[in-house]
Amino acid sequence: MSVTESSAKARDTLARNHRTGFSRAAQRSYDFTCPSPDSYPFQWAWDSSFHAVALTHVDTRRARDELRSLLSAVTPTGFLPHMVLWQDDLRPRATADFRIDLWEGWRSVTIAPPVVARAVERVYRATGDDLWLRRVLPPALAFFRWLRDHRTSPGTGLLEIYQPDESGLDSSPKYDAALGIQAVPEGAVHTAWHRAMRSLITAYASPARTPEAPLRDRRLFVWNDVLVNTVYADGLACLARLARTAGPNGRTADRLAEESRAIGAALMRHCWDEADGAFHDLDLVAGRRSDVLTASALLPVLLDSVPDTAAHRVIEQHLLNEREFWLPHPVPSVAATEPSYDPSFRTGAIFRGSSWVNLNWYLYWGLRRRGYRAEADTLATRTCALVAASGTRECYGPEDAAGHGARSFGWSSLVLDLAAATTAEPTTASGPTTTAEPTTASGPTATPEED
Ligand code: GLC
Repeated sequence: MSVTESSAKARDTLARNHRTGFSRAAQRSYDFTCPSPDSYPFQWAWDSSFHAVALTHVDTRRARDELRSLLSAVTPTGFLPHMVLWQDDLRPRATADFRIDLWEGWRSVTIAPPVVARAVERVYRATGDDLWLRRVLPPALAFFRWLRDHRTSPGTGLLEIYQPDESGLDSSPKYDAALGIQAVPEGAVHTAWHRAMRSLITAYASPARTPEAPLRDRRLFVWNDVLVNTVYADGLACLARLARTAGPNGRTADRLAEESRAIGAALMRHCWDEADGAFHDLDLVAGRRSDVLTASALLPVLLDSVPDTAAHRVIEQHLLNEREFWLPHPVPSVAATEPSYDPSFRTGAIFRGSSWVNLNWYLYWGLRRRGYRAEADTLATRTCALVAASGTRECYGPEDAAGHGARSFGWSSLVLDLAAATTAEPTTASGPTTTAEPTTASGPTATPEED
């Protein structure tokens, strides 16, 4: 019942948030799904990637257009911005409303987690559209090369970010100490965070910031984020498979697969905490590992290059732990045992305890990959129940299912993918003995359509 209801709400949201037109500033047409008509009217990179996956269940033409629009924003150097501000009429108030540092007038100068590779693979598997793949694969590959060339930490080999929102997890308490806001009372967190972000962005603004500016040298915020690196390693593996399918030369595929394995190995070497049984981010300015237990500590269970022994510890000790993450409406973005855990959105700040559909979606596939099929299905069912009860909100209370943040929120429509995945192959086994391959076993196999 909740699956049918949540799917209907997801479809409505995808229809309501659809945006098409021609951008004078960018001199090209666009066709995308905005994250939320009121709160986020432009195209956001990782949101759009999630939207494209959801759209494979609704309209494969829109799924392809979504990613084609996004990847048309890749610059000649290979940079893909977090935000693409296509709409000429809305752009003027954007810098006032959002923390956006614009570059060339219509692109943000920041990155987002590179979910786009997984989205390209899912859309390709759903459509079999080789023509489309030949068009979107080069800019996707260029962006991953850009990340490697401009964002690799020399010491760890992991990707680095220069401001918290480049992980997409904006106000996560794992960044509080680095931003100097760790002792702030709950009611003041939101304001303190915005103030800290503004001073970071102001400091970066001079000399004039470009996507390739050497911000590492400024030593203001340099961070190896576990979520960003997991998504990156996963994306490299997706691109390796796609390059093998579409590319003329297997060497590119081999290189990408090797780069993916190297990131997994670096996560094990630098972020895996044997005592905790979890992965922790690295603050390269302070020269220490973050010790705040957040949902991103769980994400590497997705990666083949992370050994089963580590993945099973993460799952058994943390994800399925009823005191930390396995709450009535999982998965909270921060463990319930953390002092900063905010299940009721009292701080008004995001990623401080609420449950998020995009994180659940990654963890669903991670659980399946490790053979926890029954637990994965429970997670999918509970995620659909959140959307059925409270609509497609930005995030949800892990204890009471209340909706918080933006309304008509796009990536909560990933429940369509969760619903399809659980009903396509009903649970037959649980426990860590079976394996599943998300990128090939999932998604409908639709008939290829012409462009
Ligand atoms: C918030 C989130 C970011 C997301 C954006 C649009 O800024 O932190 O991850 O991309 O909203 O939904």
